[in-house]
Amino acid sequence: MATPHNEAATGEIAKTVLMPGDPLRAKFLAMTYLEDAKQFNNVRNMFGYTGSYKGKEVSIMGSGMGMPSIGIYSHELYSQYGVENIIRIGTCGSFKKHVHLRDIIIVQGCCTDSNFAYQFELPGVYSAISDYGLLEKAVALAKEKNVNYHVGNILSSDIFYHADKNSPEKWASMGCLGVEMESYALFATAAYLNKRALTLLTVSDSLVSKEETTPEEREKSFTAMMEIALEIA
Ligand code: ADE
Repeated sequence: MATPHNEAATGEIAKTVLMPGDPLRAKFLAMTYLEDAKQFNNVRNMFGYTGSYKGKEVSIMGSGMGMPSIGIYSHELYSQYGVENIIRIGTCGSFKKHVHLRDIIIVQGCCTDSNFAYQFELPGVYSAISDYGLLEKAVALAKEKNVNYHVGNILSSDIFYHADKNSPEKWASMGCLGVEMESYALFATAAYLNKRALTLLTVSDSLVSKEETTPEEREKSFTAMMEIALEIA
């Protein structure tokens, strides 16, 4: 059953979907990690694939950048395709001195400067959190793999350029570890539809030291994060 943004037929998408922002990364990851990967979506070049990893069916699909984009794709996956778990695998900027380039953040909750939760007509501010069961598994796997990881709150922002204007130091002083642009919408959509979501982030740049990782470094640290996500699935 196709949606405006996904041409997959019913049954072509697994119960667990890993979502990098970049659809070409979704393609690369599917080709690298999945056995018998079959492409299910090509609409807007937002590639999606289903295959198997260690005998379990799993899908990988791009989410695009920003909350409206991941809001649309996750809503359709949960509500039209019977998806139960979405694990976002992305990158973020660090807000904290002790959160170094290439470290992994396992996202427990998100603050936001977006109005995404307006649609739910709540009489207050919605706190978006990840699913505890998925988070617990991610922590156990991160320990097992001996990677540098942090668990905590982040900022999901609508702003990439002029990020200094959204006061990183104030968010950092309230405990936010870093900034990305999608997880608040993913977690809120999962909650609204009674489904599960988690985000794993590799730190690609630092708003404290102003350092950035090279594309090769990003690739390497992405591998550890990807393996954690696949093993949760
Ligand atoms: N994703 C990776 N780095 C980021 C940053 N500095 N701001 C927002 N999203 C990001």
